[in-house]
Amino acid sequence: MAQQIENVGVLGAGLMGHGIAQVAAGAGYSVVLREVDEGTLQKGLGKIEKQLARAVEKGKSTQEEADVVRGRITGTIHYQDLADCDLVIEAITESLPLKLEMWREVDQIVKPQAVFATNTSSLAVIDQAAVTSRPGQFVGLHYFNPAQVMKLVEVVRCVTTDDEAFATALEFARSEGKLAIPTKDKAGFIVNRLLVPYMLDAIRAYEEGVGSVGEIDEAMKAGAGHPMGPLTLADFVGLDTLGSICDVLFDEFRERRFARPPTLRKMLSAGWFGRKSGKGFYDYSGDSPVENAGL
Ligand code: CAA
Repeated sequence: MAQQIENVGVLGAGLMGHGIAQVAAGAGYSVVLREVDEGTLQKGLGKIEKQLARAVEKGKSTQEEADVVRGRITGTIHYQDLADCDLVIEAITESLPLKLEMWREVDQIVKPQAVFATNTSSLAVIDQAAVTSRPGQFVGLHYFNPAQVMKLVEVVRCVTTDDEAFATALEFARSEGKLAIPTKDKAGFIVNRLLVPYMLDAIRAYEEGVGSVGEIDEAMKAGAGHPMGPLTLADFVGLDTLGSICDVLFDEFRERRFARPPTLRKMLSAGWFGRKSGKGFYDYSGDSPVENAGL
């Protein structure tokens, strides 16, 4: 039987965390959103406010409704404020040492019956569960970017997850209006296992001169019906994130299809992380993106 959830903690207010917090608040949960410092926290809260304002402008919600959703979110820089959460979802940097350090601390503060979830894209869920005192109450809840829009949440069961925690996670994702698909704790789960090699192959196709950045993207949009071309998508996901996911997949499976293409490695050295840094396969500094002339 699923546990009753009222208070949700979200760790990290970045690309994924702010969206996960907004979705939970939109579904009626009371949310505590934690960031490392006040500046980063305000940036995340600002993104939520912008999205809520956009929905009002478009007539998708009223100002009152937007205010109610915003009112359900409390920002903090202290783990202590998560003490009373029934569910804590982490969406911090995709680094196992950082996640483990965070869970060790959070585990001591949050009430013992609470369920913990990681939004990791590729790291093994069990590695995080194992450092807590509640490996039975640990799951993966993997959202997709933008979390406010994408319908899917992969609900990941690791070897220690108990039936009640898994049912709680499935029920929670469904209560947010998401399509909750159960999956096992295998690197990349379902979507990234298939999507990451696709994006990497698009980079290799570019390296081999099959087409320009724009041609590869336009071809996949018009020829395969994708909403975004693979190189636009790579920029959207974040090239640093893509790089760390493919490293984890390569370490796990030792298959060439998961290896970092040289172009990606060089772009990361240059600090080109995609849309979030202003430059990736495209340059985002103007009114509309243009192909990155430096490539
Ligand atoms: N945050 C919140 N909402 C957003 C948004 C954002 N960043 N970007 C767009 N939206 C909303 C818009 O407000 C709009 O909402 P309404 O329909 O209510 O008006 C809706 O999304 C559609 O937006 P647009 O009309 O501006 O643009 P679009 O039709 O091109 O859609 C898109 C934008 C939804 C992002 C679409 O291009 C798309 O689906 N792209 C593919 C995204 C994708 O594949 N994501 C998965 C990435 S992989 C991942 O996340 C997993 C991982 O672990 C790496």
